[in-house]
Amino acid sequence: MTRNLRPYDSVLDTIGWTPLIRLNRITRGIRTPVYGKADFFNPGGSVKDRIGMPIIEQAERDGSLRPGGTIVEGTSGNTGVGLAIAAALKGYKCIFTMPDKMSQEKVRLLKAFGAEVIITPTAVGPDHPDNYVVMAKRIAEETPNAILANQFYNQANTNAHYATTGPELWEQSEGRITHFVAAAGTGGTITGVGRYLKEKNPDIKIICGDPQGSILAELWRSKGTHKIDGAPYKVEGIGQDKLPSTLDLSVIDDYRSVSDRDAFSMARRLTREEGLFVGGSAGLITHIALQVAREIDTPDAFVVTFLCDTGERYLSKLYNDEWMRENQLLEPDRVTLGDLLEHKVASAPAAVVSAAQGQQVRQVLGLMRLHDVSLLPVLDGGRCVGSVTEYALTQRGLESSRFLDAVVGEVMDEPFPVVDAGQPVESVQKVLSKATPAVLVTSGDAIVGIVTRSDMLAYLMHR
Ligand SMILES: Cc1ncc(COP(=O)(O)O)c(C=O)c1O
Repeated sequence: MTRNLRPYDSVLDTIGWTPLIRLNRITRGIRTPVYGKADFFNPGGSVKDRIGMPIIEQAERDGSLRPGGTIVEGTSGNTGVGLAIAAALKGYKCIFTMPDKMSQEKVRLLKAFGAEVIITPTAVGPDHPDNYVVMAKRIAEETPNAILANQFYNQANTNAHYATTGPELWEQSEGRITHFVAAAGTGGTITGVGRYLKEKNPDIKIICGDPQGSILAELWRSKGTHKIDGAPYKVEGIGQDKLPSTLDLSVIDDYRSVSDRDAFSMARRLTREEGLFVGGSAGLITHIALQVAREIDTPDAFVVTFLCDTGERYLSKLYNDEWMRENQLLEPDRVTLGDLLEHKVASAPAAVVSAAQGQQVRQVLGLMRLHDVSLLPVLDGGRCVGSVTEYALTQRGLESSRFLDAVVGEVMDEPFPVVDAGQPVESVQKVLSKATPAVLVTSGDAIVGIVTRSDMLAYLMHR
């Protein structure tokens, strides 16, 4: 390891040259190598550190920003941090507008860097005066010696990735990179990296991820002709309700939409299984990277996913089970029929009580009373050949007392369905009905239990 061998002049010199790390665990069973470009290693914890200084220096060069000036931006948080770090070292003031869906951690973080933060409503259209981008523009116009960093329309953003992220990936992969997967907020990353890599090798595939609800994927699919209405989503920092000029759709070879649930689930897996503590956008991108790796299925490819920012920014959100549950984003715990049987065993007979075809109805009703059960499978050599219920037997017994002397084999109903103990409980919820009041649970060839409609009700109540 040769990194950090010498002292740096300032924290700004530590931006970029983030590590490229092989993903080993979440890729189990996939032959294609997948690497993560860990941009959360930047000092401000995100990819956006890369664009702070270039934007400020460009404004200094063109004379729009003079000493003591103010930098204004509409930001989902990370760009604010990138700008704030550079502004702190250059002595500028920062004012940021931010939609109210963003996490509290991000607001506090920007304030920690000395920035003024103005929260705006998320649920307004892209041209509404309260939209965070529109408001930032107005503040910049009304404040003397202020610039709008304008990350969505500022080519310094895209150029920063062309100059740094792209070449880093080419060098780190020794020119072997075959697929780059990222997601577009401003599109600066994917456009800058995409342009650089395509110049090096036009065969490299640039794949963009989009949250379901963003308009960008459909714009790409329709080559800019079809603009859908956006819908809210929870992943932060990526997707749009308007096409920014920093996003060049023509560098993108494939655009895929991903749900919040899949994005967050993968972010949590990156943290738990790979030790890479990342935010939801990295999860969304990695979800696609694994799809791609599975599809191409070759050890000769070199797939790179982009790990945009640190998970610390989302401790109250995707890393908070309560928030995940409130938003129906947590995978329900998978309870199997075997688990359900274990749960009910305390109140039920240890072995499955059953009837045989040759037994009389009278005996079987006695058996039911003895074990306090209302239905029984009829077994023959360990196989379910029929079923009897207390209700049906007593009804017919009341009609004719001779019925009580009949043998089960002559009066039994259809056998109960047989389901493996490893199956999820949900798989039998639909099967159970008046006509099918129970299922038999097997492990290997052996019948290990019975699950009735009332067991299912008890399980649901308990849950
Ligand atoms: C968390 C996060 N991921 C990804 C991105 C997207 O990067 P870009 O704006 O370069 O498209 C952003 C941008 O704000 C972000 O905040």
